[in-house]
Amino acid sequence: MRKSDNDRPLLQIRNTGKFFGKLAALDGVNIEINEGEAVGIVGPNGSGKTTLINTITGFYKPSAGEIIFRDKKISGLRADQICSRGIMRTFQSNMIYGDTTTLENIFRGAFLTLKTSGWGQFFNVSSYRQYNKTLWSRSHELLEQFGLAEFKDTCAGDLPHGSQRVLGVAMAVASAPKLLLLDEPMTGMNDQEVSSMLSHIDGIREQGITVVMVEHNMKAMLKASKRLVVLDFGQVIADDKAEVVVNMNEVIECYLGREDLQDNA
Ligand SMILES: Nc1ncnc2c1ncn2[C@@H]1O[C@H](COP(=O)(O)OP(=O)(O)O)[C@@H](O)[C@H]1O
Ligand SMILES: [Mg+2]
Repeated sequence: MRKSDNDRPLLQIRNTGKFFGKLAALDGVNIEINEGEAVGIVGPNGSGKTTLINTITGFYKPSAGEIIFRDKKISGLRADQICSRGIMRTFQSNMIYGDTTTLENIFRGAFLTLKTSGWGQFFNVSSYRQYNKTLWSRSHELLEQFGLAEFKDTCAGDLPHGSQRVLGVAMAVASAPKLLLLDEPMTGMNDQEVSSMLSHIDGIREQGITVVMVEHNMKAMLKASKRLVVLDFGQVIADDKAEVVVNMNEVIECYLGREDLQDNA
């Protein structure tokens, strides 16, 4: 899927495997993601989607293969090291700090940028104060961008479900990643919340962040993704333009389900 030979992919997943005992959760996976591409990852439950995100982000060490990000090998690094290289992820379940305010949650995401750009400043009180101020002002901007301003002082645990999911994404964006991996960001959302999440994802892409999304909601997935990668039993069984993939017989029959597509396409 490379545009030209000069166009190095942002992320290269090469022959990557992840085994749990005899179970191959990922098996010989090859995927390239270009900067700015809108890629979706689909597949039935247990097909390895979350394992792929965990393996890219260092939550799991791959059992085989290697992963290259911006021309440097990242497989084998710790999760915090991979995060500081510019890859952020959200979780299938909400991972917010429920007993702190919405604004503070975003600040905690923004604070992660200190790791990459500011440890020196940490030891210099006046420049640390300045940096802290910048982070708070960035957190306020993100509150606005993600439509969470009215909940600024609300404990995150008291937010409606849809807003908690949006907050999780806002926290990830606050860390200023190059690549953002979203694991089922629309789970449990109503139609209005889904369309609002879709417009947030568009906004994130316009900021220059490459977004890869795992999602069960095919209708939303087709709106958000130009290219689909289909996983089944830990293997890539299709990787092409979204309109091509949804028309592949093996994908329709075995992996997405006829009813799903008829309901959602
Ligand atoms: N930490 C783990 N230990 C053992 N098996 C795991 C672990 N994580 C995932 N798996 C298994 O790997 C397979 C893929 O899981 P997962 O990546 O969560 O699938 P998906 O996100 O596509 O639903 C499943 O069979 C799951 O049970
Ligand atoms: Mg999953």
